[in-house]
Amino acid sequence: MDYVKDLPKLFDLSVASEEPSHANGMTGHDIISVDQFDREALSYVFHRSHEMRDMVQRVGSCDLLKGYVLACLFYEPSTRTSASFIAAMERLGGGVIPITQGVQFSSVSKGESLPDTVCTLEQYADVIVLRHPEVGSSQAAADAASVPVINAGDGTGEHPTQALLDLFTIREELGRIDGLKVAMVGDLRYGRTVHSLTRLLMQYDVSLRYVSPENLRLPMSLMNELIDRGIRVRETHDVADVIENADVLYVTRVQKERFTDPTQYEELKDYYKITPEIMEEAKAKMALLHPLPRVGEIDPALDTDPRAAYFRQVKNGMYVRMALLAAVLGQA
Ligand code: CP
Repeated sequence: MDYVKDLPKLFDLSVASEEPSHANGMTGHDIISVDQFDREALSYVFHRSHEMRDMVQRVGSCDLLKGYVLACLFYEPSTRTSASFIAAMERLGGGVIPITQGVQFSSVSKGESLPDTVCTLEQYADVIVLRHPEVGSSQAAADAASVPVINAGDGTGEHPTQALLDLFTIREELGRIDGLKVAMVGDLRYGRTVHSLTRLLMQYDVSLRYVSPENLRLPMSLMNELIDRGIRVRETHDVADVIENADVLYVTRVQKERFTDPTQYEELKDYYKITPEIMEEAKAKMALLHPLPRVGEIDPALDTDPRAAYFRQVKNGMYVRMALLAAVLGQA
């Protein structure tokens, strides 16, 4: 039985999703930037992610991508993105080449270029997931490759699959995106997940609040784009200014690996900590999110707070990445 194709007939979807009007504009395409996703494409990804979640909850895995191989090529550390792509491929019946334990164990350590590495991996694999410290590296890899390349984070640039799972989680937690007040807190300068999520949220009727120290403000180019598009946007350095009204509090860590001056990192790393006392001021119905890893920004005492959605966010990452892998491989 083809479980995924038969899912709408077999199972009731527990969360209503908009019907996609185009199933698969993604087949054979790279996923480099969130700018590739309009609201129609986002509806499609959400719809398919629901189907993937229901399939996993009912039967665990299926054979939709049997015979396909994913190469996971990570030049930077990762727990969630690498593990969720591997889990996604395995739950869809496919195979994985995991180069995730450090490229120092691959021929990159001998000086092999990114294009040569990609052109080698595509001899074995049908899709490549790449994390790399340089902005633009995923596009460079995609230019070299003939199989789809999925950007799993390129330096301070973008992390599109994270933003898709973030948006999916917001919708799951609160039932809508339009009309929400979303506050992003922490390292808004270097945090690529903030950049990608901001770009997706531009497509919705939302109010955005950015909370950061002066040195870690959202890049001016992105702020200007928000203003040009007429998005309601405010900046502050104080969580107290946003906590009462936020429907979503999206907290990020200070990105140690992006600092050239370690003393500046030390000065800023503990700037914010969301505690139970702070959350007492928040709405009863809201979502506390974090792309993780956290290194002190959210008190673990909040983990049992029903509004703390960051581990549900992690799980959603697998469903969204299942949907994306199926789409780029033409099995939508
Ligand atoms: N959110 C995220 O990208 O986590 P990892 O760095 O563990 O992949």
